[in-house]
Amino acid sequence: MIELRSDTFTKPTKPMLEAMFSAEVGDDVFGEDPTVKKLESLCANMFNMEAALFCPSGTMTNQIAIKCHTQPGQEVICEQQSHVYSYEGGGIAFNSGCQVKTLQGDRGRIHAGQIAAVINPDDIHKAPTALVIIENTSNRGGGSCYELNDLQYIRELCNEHQLALHLDGARIWNALVAKNQQPKDFGHLFDSISICLSKGLGAPVGSLLLGDALFINRARRFRKILGGGMRQAGYLAAAGIFALENHIDRLATDHLHAQHIAKALESKSWVANILPVETNMVIFDVREPYSAKSLANKLKENGFLCIPISEKTIRMVTHLNVTSSMAEQVVKVIEGL
Ligand SMILES: Cc1ncc(COP(=O)(O)O)c(C=O)c1O
Repeated sequence: MIELRSDTFTKPTKPMLEAMFSAEVGDDVFGEDPTVKKLESLCANMFNMEAALFCPSGTMTNQIAIKCHTQPGQEVICEQQSHVYSYEGGGIAFNSGCQVKTLQGDRGRIHAGQIAAVINPDDIHKAPTALVIIENTSNRGGGSCYELNDLQYIRELCNEHQLALHLDGARIWNALVAKNQQPKDFGHLFDSISICLSKGLGAPVGSLLLGDALFINRARRFRKILGGGMRQAGYLAAAGIFALENHIDRLATDHLHAQHIAKALESKSWVANILPVETNMVIFDVREPYSAKSLANKLKENGFLCIPISEKTIRMVTHLNVTSSMAEQVVKVIEGL
């Protein structure tokens, strides 16, 4: 079966497993795991931020960031389909006691003008706005990416209103490759950044939260409270280091595969609308004779898995374990339907 449901399905390659087996480890809750320390400083340096914290998941890094940036009763601004709001189990309310103001973005991307319009005034009837969250690439936006100057405008707005700005960069690597941007371009724009190693980069586990040293010290406390302190985590960090050193440039191949698949879908009468493909995702609506579910079943009978994300919308995601010949096979199946 060719797996196109998500880039989280990747399995470690043999050389990645070898790097994991040979990792030097210690107890990271005691701050004594050299491989975790190496990964944390590698990521902080890449993004030109002071410090980093290795966590089990992107959900945890996002939720810790929100907790650090807010007080109960405050308001968070984000896109309506963003992961932090729609797919983290109500974590903003549960962990941080905040309410959320959602915006409808352009393929998941929100802009400074929209944000400015919903920042609450200093009024006792209103929840104080505290934090803006950006997702890049945007998952539900079909892997869409931000332009740096749009982010710069949001940064300036946040400065003006003394709001914190967090980036959910679960797939920032795809954006960097697609837009030819540098991680350092992002470090100075955000108060905190969450990056994931377990999506397009192909590591089995792991995300990092980046920020200044004080922020990361507080984040370390919340990680402990949430049960996210890991002991010989260096085995996992080694997979992350390997992924950063070997799996970033190859993302361009995943993007080409996604474009190839989208091109095959374009000519099909049962495809209603395909979101522009910027990175490794293809999101499209289906029409008669299919529903999203019946098409997914049909494709499964033909050897590949994709995911219906609504009654009429399907998502396909390319990744490390989808070879060029597999992408070709997918194209052939689509052409034959
Ligand atoms: C945009 C985005 N942010 C955060 C996450 C959460 O990552 P994790 O599954 O590691 O909790 C995901 C997961 O797919 C995601 O797509």
